[in-house]
Amino acid sequence: MDFEIVSSDITSLETECLVLAVEADSTLSPAAKIADEASAGHISEILKGGDISGKNAQTLLLHKVPGLAAKRVLLVGFGKDDDRNNRNYRKVVKAIMGVAKSTGVSSLALAIDIQPTDDEDKYRQVRHLVEWSGNELYIYDETKSKKADPIKLEQISIHVSEDDADLAETALMDGTAIVNGTSIARDLGNLPGNFCTPTYLAEQALELDDEFESLSTTIVDEDEMNQLGMHCLLSVGNGSEEPSKLIVMEYKGGEEGDKPHVMVGKGITFDTGGISLKPGGGMDEMKYDMCGAASVFGAMTAICEMALPINVVGIVAAAENMPSGHATKPGDIVTTMSGQTVEILNTDAEGRLVLCDALTYAGKFEPASVVDIATLTGACIIALGHHATGILSNNDELAAELIEAGEQADDKGWQLPLWDEFQEQLDSNFADIANIGGRPGGTITAACFLSRFTKEYRWAHLDIAGVAWNSGGKEKGSTGRCVPMLTQYMLNQAAEEE
Ligand code: BES
Ligand code: MN
Ligand code: ZN
Repeated sequence: MDFEIVSSDITSLETECLVLAVEADSTLSPAAKIADEASAGHISEILKGGDISGKNAQTLLLHKVPGLAAKRVLLVGFGKDDDRNNRNYRKVVKAIMGVAKSTGVSSLALAIDIQPTDDEDKYRQVRHLVEWSGNELYIYDETKSKKADPIKLEQISIHVSEDDADLAETALMDGTAIVNGTSIARDLGNLPGNFCTPTYLAEQALELDDEFESLSTTIVDEDEMNQLGMHCLLSVGNGSEEPSKLIVMEYKGGEEGDKPHVMVGKGITFDTGGISLKPGGGMDEMKYDMCGAASVFGAMTAICEMALPINVVGIVAAAENMPSGHATKPGDIVTTMSGQTVEILNTDAEGRLVLCDALTYAGKFEPASVVDIATLTGACIIALGHHATGILSNNDELAAELIEAGEQADDKGWQLPLWDEFQEQLDSNFADIANIGGRPGGTITAACFLSRFTKEYRWAHLDIAGVAWNSGGKEKGSTGRCVPMLTQYMLNQAAEEE
């Protein structure tokens, strides 16, 4: 999809479909008024007929509107001024793209009078338009023998005033990078476990290394992990034929000595639960258990594309969690890279086992911050549903920065407490720490486990179990969250540098 910013006269825009905004009570927005005048009142005449009231996300497609170069006009409702929020704006974008897809137009010009309160908002509204349009046009057909019909839409022009053209261009570039990153994350998430193995993820990281001068990838294999003492990470892949991989992607956009921001992704390419086997129903969805890793890939790509002036390291702890004669058993005790011993009481609490060693490894970069991203606990879905990423941190400022980034990117997170009271649930009679803390506060005790390995730096944990994919039905599939939040967080770090 090609996006462009245009500021020329809307009546002469050569497009297959000009999209104009109608506000509540059938009021035309400024751009729509100009089109209406050019059409000698044709549009307002239709509005009088009552076909569209301007309710949010309502649409009406018009053909042969006189006085315009555009072949069609799509009127889209924006509702009352009070209705202008991201949730409704997203519905508008979805409605527009729905019409674009079903009519099969090859070009769209959006002259919808983005109406924010300040420049920062305008930037974000244009960016969201790009991100969300791109998201609506996403297709997964990698593993279908019959490829989906290609979407006919090739060009989306976004009309803004000349004054706003510069900030809109920046928004377009950032938005494109974010939607590309999100699509990469969605592709990886949707790919099943027999394609997307730890080795496959490692190959993807090597391809990124080829693609971007600024990025270099190192793959740490099982032998090297053994030497590094990452026995906890390795214990998760014991039952699998697929070798585990620690993938390290270093992006150097900042100065030589700038401390990097590190992202660590849980990359369980399939989670059967291991010997603590999961029930069969819906188990296929555990192919998404590498969505934390996918978010790291997506955000890394976006960061490279935007050429942010900071240093970033993306680490992926990739393994497959399978039962077998070699698999780790409940009660087994392993030694982590940090030297702490862990009693693995439940082999299905494997995410924390791969992450703890990756987090210890992250320490060697003397990071400015470390954020891990993981589909870590079903309990997070119970706590926060499918709307908010769970955020837990040893540094309230960092948590606040991530919450803020989530709001800016419309990829929201909510903080849960990481109080010491919860730590005791991880006491073990036989090792330094147990890998489960019982049902109460399951998301928090999982984070407590990780916190034992992150004492040396500013760290936050993002539990994306609820937000990373949609279950069942037509919408089933990976969402690409939380690429927008992570990318926004890095954009904010870059802005601080300047
Ligand atoms: N990958 C799962 C978490 C998960 C479950 C994500 C459902 C999305 C949907 C994780 O490895 C897991 O199995 N966690 C256990 C932890 C428990 C054994 C302490 C869980 O949440 O049940
Ligand atoms: Mn599990
Ligand atoms: Zn898991």
